[in-house]
Amino acid sequence: MRVTASEYGGVRYNRRVAASLPPTPPAWLAALNGARVVSGLPRDAADISHDSRRVRPGGIFVAIPGARADGHDFIPAAVAAGAAAVIVQTDRRARWQPHVVAGLAFVAVPDARVALAEAAAGVYGHPARSLGMVGVTGTDGKTTTTHLIAHVLTASGRRAGYLSSVAFSDGAAAELNASHMTTLEASDVQRELRRIADAGARYAVVEASSIGLELHRVDQCAFDVGVFTNLTPDHLDFHGTMDAYLASKARLFGMVAAAAARDLPKAAVLNADDPASAAMRAAAAGVPALTYALRSDADLTARSVGRDGVGTRFIVSAHGEEAAARTPLLGDYNVSNCLAAVAVAASQGIALGDAAAALASFPGVPGRMELIEEGQPFRVVVDIASTEPAMRNVLGALRPATQGRLIVVFGAAGERDVARRSGIARAVAGAADFAVIANEDPRGEDPDAIIDEIARALVAGGVREGTHFVREPDRRRAIEAAFHRAQPGDTVLLAGKGTEQSIVIGATQVPWDERRVARELLREMRGV
Ligand SMILES: Nc1ncnc2c1ncn2[C@@H]1O[C@H](COP(=O)(O)OP(=O)(O)O)[C@@H](O)[C@H]1O
Ligand SMILES: [Mg+2]
Repeated sequence: MRVTASEYGGVRYNRRVAASLPPTPPAWLAALNGARVVSGLPRDAADISHDSRRVRPGGIFVAIPGARADGHDFIPAAVAAGAAAVIVQTDRRARWQPHVVAGLAFVAVPDARVALAEAAAGVYGHPARSLGMVGVTGTDGKTTTTHLIAHVLTASGRRAGYLSSVAFSDGAAAELNASHMTTLEASDVQRELRRIADAGARYAVVEASSIGLELHRVDQCAFDVGVFTNLTPDHLDFHGTMDAYLASKARLFGMVAAAAARDLPKAAVLNADDPASAAMRAAAAGVPALTYALRSDADLTARSVGRDGVGTRFIVSAHGEEAAARTPLLGDYNVSNCLAAVAVAASQGIALGDAAAALASFPGVPGRMELIEEGQPFRVVVDIASTEPAMRNVLGALRPATQGRLIVVFGAAGERDVARRSGIARAVAGAADFAVIANEDPRGEDPDAIIDEIARALVAGGVREGTHFVREPDRRRAIEAAFHRAQPGDTVLLAGKGTEQSIVIGATQVPWDERRVARELLREMRGV
C-alpha cells in the first residue's frame, strides 16, 4: 500500500513505515514541510531541542549543520539522552545514515533550521496563532523598542510579553536572558511564546536580529506587525555585504506580508528617517505602512523635544492630532524608539493619548542607560553600547545631562567585527573627557592586542595616553580607576556589558555582573 501525502498530514512516508502509522500524525510531524519518515514511528513529544545536551527522554532532537559543529555528529549523544525522534537534513545523509536504528523515529527534511521552527511550533501548539505578534528589527534600538512596545501595550490594557536580548517576560514577570544570544533558537522562541500565551497575554513582542531572521529562529511567528528602527553597517562579518544585511532585515516584513490574515490589523512600522525603510516597505507588499520620524515627514512625528530632569519630554503629532509625552529615557534616539512604540499601539487601535501617556511609566531596560545610585556624588550609568553609533548616541545623550566630565570605561569584543574597535574608539575620542580601556569579551584573542588596537585608534582620534586615557585590562580595576577619578558632577559611563552575566576570556565564561560590581565598588568607596 502506498500512502500519499494528502492522506497523512502532508508528510511523505517510506512505504515500509506507512503500514504501521497511527491514524493521525503527531502535531510536530504534521507541521513539517517536505519531510520524509526514514524509519521508526513518530509519536507525540513534549520537548524539542537542537542541542543534544538539552534533549530529554521522549523528546525530539533536531540535527542542525552549524558554522562550527554539525548537529548530525551528536545524534548518538541525543539518543543516549533518550531522544525518541531525530530530525535530520536530507543532504547530510552520509552523516546520519549510520545512526539509523530500529525503534527510533528518523525524519529527513530539506532544511533542518526551517524544520526546527516548524516542529517546535507543532510541539508547543502553535502559540503564535493565539497571540498578536510584533517583531522588531534594526541595527540599533531593537531591545529598547521591544520593551517599550510591550510596556505601552500592557499599560493600554493589552497585556504583552516579550523576548529580547536582555530579558523575557510573560506580560507579568520578567527574567534576564542569560544566553549570549539576541534571538534564541527557534525551539526556545516557540517554548517561550507558549509560556506567554498560557500566562494570558494578548501580544508577544519579539526582538528579531538579522542573524536570527536569517537562521530561521523566528520562523513560525506569524508576525502581524513588523517594526524597523534603522540600519547602519554592523555584523558585516556575518552577512558579508550591506545588501545581504538589508535583505535579512527585510525578511521580517516578508513574514508580515505572508502571515495569515486574522482579526488583528497588520502593519509595517517604519522609521522614515532611515532610507532603508523603503526596502522594508517593498518587502511588506500589501501591508499598511505606518511611519515615524524625528527629522522627516511621517505619520507620527515628535516636536518640542526637550530635557526634563533625567528624562525627555516631547509632543507626538499624528496627522494633526497631538499628545504630550514624557519618557524617563535620554537621547533623541529614544524619542524615536518611543514613537515606534506609539505607532505599534496606534496600529492596534489604541488611542494616541493613551499610548503617549503610557511612555511615562516605562521602567527602562536593564543595562540600557541604567543609573546606578549608591549615594555617590557623581552619576554612574551602565549601558550596553558597543558600536560606534551606539557610543556616539549614548555620549551625546549624557553630555547635556552632565555638568562635569564624561568618563568612559570600555573595550571591544574578541572574535567579532574588528572594525568596531577603531569605530568605538573614534566615538570615545570625540566625545568623552577621559577613558579607561578594559577587557570586554576577548574570547580566543589576545586581550592586550585588542586593547592596543583601541589605544592606537584613540591616539589617531587626537587624544593622549596618560592624559586622556589609561589601560586596565582587569575590568573591575578599570571601573574602580574610573570611580576614583570621578568628581562631583561627573558622569561615569560603563559601556559594553549591560546585563550580560559573564566575560568570555579564552573558552571560559567568567561570571560578571557589571551593575553589581559597580554597586560593590561604590559601597567600598563610601566605606560601607
Ligand atoms: N533608535 C536608535 N538609533 C540609534 N541608536 C540607538 C537607538 N536606540 C538605541 N540606540 C543605541 O544602541 C544601543 C543599544 O540599544 P538596544 O535597544 O539594546 O538596541 P539593540 O537591541 O538593537 O542592540 C543603546 O545603548 C543606544 O546607545
Ligand atoms: Mg538587543
